[in-house]
Amino acid sequence: MSTIATMTADELAHAGLRLSVDGVVATITLDRPAVRNAQVPRLWAGMARILRELGDDVRVVVVRGAGGTFSAGLDLSLLDPAQAEEEGNFIATLASSDQEIIDQIAIYQEPFALLSDPRFITVAVVEGHAIGAGFQLALCCDLRIVADDARFCMKEPALGLVPDLVGTKPLVAAVGYARALEICASARVVSGAEAGEIGLAQVVAPAAELDGALAAMVEALTAHPHGAVSATKALLQDAPARSLDDQRLAERTAQVKRFRALAGR
Ligand code: ACO
Repeated sequence: MSTIATMTADELAHAGLRLSVDGVVATITLDRPAVRNAQVPRLWAGMARILRELGDDVRVVVVRGAGGTFSAGLDLSLLDPAQAEEEGNFIATLASSDQEIIDQIAIYQEPFALLSDPRFITVAVVEGHAIGAGFQLALCCDLRIVADDARFCMKEPALGLVPDLVGTKPLVAAVGYARALEICASARVVSGAEAGEIGLAQVVAPAAELDGALAAMVEALTAHPHGAVSATKALLQDAPARSLDDQRLAERTAQVKRFRALAGR
């Protein structure tokens, strides 16, 4: 499959996204800076479509925000009863059955889940704010390169909600249950510097140095055979859910595929 996704410039603009593909690196930019890259259903649908349509030769997907901030989370117009006519307005949604709402949220969750596809490694570049859905989007990426003055906040509990965009599992995996609970229940701000200390961020740098840090990361992530890296990502991802014996079996099975790929038979 070609690396170029099929969305037109107009479709990308409508979704509030930019996409660039440079060699094996695709960059998805949330591009609604006037509202601090707040997220709406059409943005999630666009992101899901991009991630599905990226070619098999894409090795790294970078997710970032336009205008110096990552994302202020859910577009608050979606919670506003006065804007019930807006696509995805949650107040209007309440006319549906529980199951219909659950199914709708499953669709919203798709791009967040697709970021864990083993075909590529996903890297969030976070500066400014990563609030609520923005924090979850960063969490759903495999790796995070973070400005030291970035501000993460899992705001949902403060609004009477739960984080439901696939962020809870990677948060627990990154920082452990107790720290994850403390961050979510308090809805406090976690600075970029703290994110590095507690394992949320793999690289912390001054904002002006993020692009350099990203370039170095991309070079390292793409230096070795794609098939081996993808298969290793899949093994590591599934390790926590498997018994030791099942993980050993998965390793052996993956290795046979590598042997055959290397030998060409
Ligand atoms: N939804 C819709 N509009 C937003 C959002 C949002 N989440 N965040 C910011 N905006 C808009 C503001 O209304 C403002 O619009 P205006 O220029 O028409 O007045 C514009 O973006 C700039 O916002 P400011 O607050 O002026 O920008 P500042 O840089 O000072 O602050 C910050 C940024 C901290 C992100 C602040 O805007 C904020 O707290 N936003 C709300 C965050 C939030 O509660 N998100 C929902 C979390 S829950 C979830 O995601 C499920």
